Order: sequence, then structure tokens, then C-alpha cells
Amino acid sequence: MNINSVPHKPVLPQEVCDAFADLKEGIIVDCTLGYGGHSTLLLERLPGIELVGIDQDATAVAFSRRRLAHFGERVDILHGRFSEMIHRVDSTKIRGVLADIGVSSLQLDDPSRGFGFSADTLDMRMSETTPLTARDVVNGYDQASLERIFREYGEVRGARRVAELIVRRRAKKAFESAKELADFLAQHLKGGKIHPATLVFQAIRIEVNDELGELRRLLQTIYDLRLSNATVAIISFHSLEDRIVKSTFKRWAKSCICPPEAYRCTCGNDHAYGKIVTKNPITAGEQELAENPRARSAKLRLFRTNP
Ligand SMILES: C[S@@+](CC[C@H](N)C(=O)[O-])C[C@H]1O[C@@H](n2cnc3c(N)ncnc32)[C@H](O)[C@@H]1O
Repeated sequence: MNINSVPHKPVLPQEVCDAFADLKEGIIVDCTLGYGGHSTLLLERLPGIELVGIDQDATAVAFSRRRLAHFGERVDILHGRFSEMIHRVDSTKIRGVLADIGVSSLQLDDPSRGFGFSADTLDMRMSETTPLTARDVVNGYDQASLERIFREYGEVRGARRVAELIVRRRAKKAFESAKELADFLAQHLKGGKIHPATLVFQAIRIEVNDELGELRRLLQTIYDLRLSNATVAIISFHSLEDRIVKSTFKRWAKSCICPPEAYRCTCGNDHAYGKIVTKNPITAGEQELAENPRARSAKLRLFRTNP
């Protein structure tokens, strides 16, 4: 792939750079390196920092290795899940963690990956080592499990009916491609402004890649590492993810961890990991929305750990 034609536009580029603007040295871990959009901006604007980029997608890693090669020793790229790979970084040097959770435009647009409505496979794995595929979920999960993921991860209206329709149809013939599934859903569901299959596809993708589990594990690891003076920046695209980030940051900022029914504080009142920087999430401005529709649902939350 030509590194001069970058297949993915980073969301909230200015806001991400602003979040780390005061960094003179140390390591930023870009947990979702993708096509190196955010990483390039950070390396260009912050000449004193080093960057560790992580991605579980081999295509993204190969692309970014080439795109970031001219930064030389300042960059280290790790292929794997962020919740596992972040342990390989010297935590005493980490001054920033960025995660831009979700799929990249290339993953969505590449028909062989099975993320898009016209794809001829039913895969949706971000990493080829993930054991579960979309095909396993759609053709193998029982009706109650399908209903649960549609409701929880897709907030699909009429989740029960959609699960039932899929189960009935696959009893006659298994779904073989994303296109087949998308066309089937389009025949039976109303979509409004979006394709009728959008939320069902989102739910299946979240399940296949265990996206919420990964986010929870990443946040737990960031806490366990007891990073000092570090900015944690998480961009999410889904209300459930944003809720996880928001409640975790809230918990991290709590100084007193006594049970609510305690008569007086006995915990020492010094348990805060740091401070919430963004009371409300940062979202894209009008100009970015006009140029990059993917930014529509992006929410950036920032936390700063104690010195
Ligand atoms: C939205 S894209 C990131 C785009 C990137 N910020 C850029 O500017 O090019 C998300 C990337 O995160 C990766 N990803 C998602 N979950 C991951 C995880 N648990 N571990 C490692 N990489 C993950 C995906 O493979 C995808 O390439």
C-alpha cells in the first residue's frame, strides 16, 4: 500500500495534540496506532517525545512501520492487543496514553475483512489471531445470545425480532457474507438515516473483537501501572464505551474510598490517582464534521495522573 495515500483520517487531531502539548520528554503510548495519523502529528509537534505504537491489525502495523520509519529511534511499534502489549513499555517513562477505540476506515472499506455492508466475507476480526469470527456469531450463537448482543452492544430496536429473523433464516441457509446479512436485514428492518444493518453490524463487531473487555482491561492496566504525571486520552465512538471511560475516570479521581455508609473517613483520604481534565467529553467541531463524517460520534475524555 502506498504510504502517501493514507486510508484513514484521524479524528479530533487538534484536540489530541492539545492534550499532550506540554510534553517535553517521555513516552506516549498510542494504543491504537492504526494508520499512524495521531502518532505522526504527535511526533511532528513534540520533538522531545518518543512514541510506542500498538495495533492488533497486521496491515495497519505494516503500513505504520513504513509511514513512521523516518522518525527512527523515536518510534517503537508493537503488534498485538493493547491490554497485553502496554506491559512491554517502561512504565516509569510513560507520560501519555492515547486510545482511539474502534475500527479504522480501511478495515471498514476492505471487502476481504468483512466489516462493510458489501463485503464478501463474514469476518470482522481486527486481528487474524482472534478465535471468533462474525460468521461464528451470526450462524452459531443461540437466539438469546444474539438478542443480548444486539440489545447491549447495538441498542438495536426490536432486538428479539432481529435475532429471531436471523435464526429462522440461517436454519434454511447459513449466512456466508456480510453482504448477504446486510441485504437480508435491509429487507426486514427500517433504517431511517442510516443503513438498516448498521447497529446489528456494530454489535457483532464489538462481540467478535471483545471491544468492551479490551477497553476495561486497558483502563485497569493503566491504573495498576500507577503512571506518574501522565495524560490519559481516550476517544470512544459508542455510548457504552464512553460510559466505561467516564465512570472509570470518576473512580480514579476519588480521594476517599470509604463505603458510602461510613460515619467518618478512615481510608486516609489520599487515594486519588489524579484529576479528570474534561468534565464533559470533547467532540468534533463543525468544520471537522463537514470534512470527516466518522468524527460524528467521537468523544474524547482526558485524565491526568498525579506527579
Ligand atoms: C480508529 S483506528 C485508529 C486510527 C489511528 N488513531 C490513526 O490516526 O490512524 C483503531 C485501530 O485500533 C486498533 N485496535 C482496536 N482495538 C485494539 C486492541 N484491543 N488492541 C490493539 N489494537 C486495537 C484497530 O485495529 C484499528 O487499527
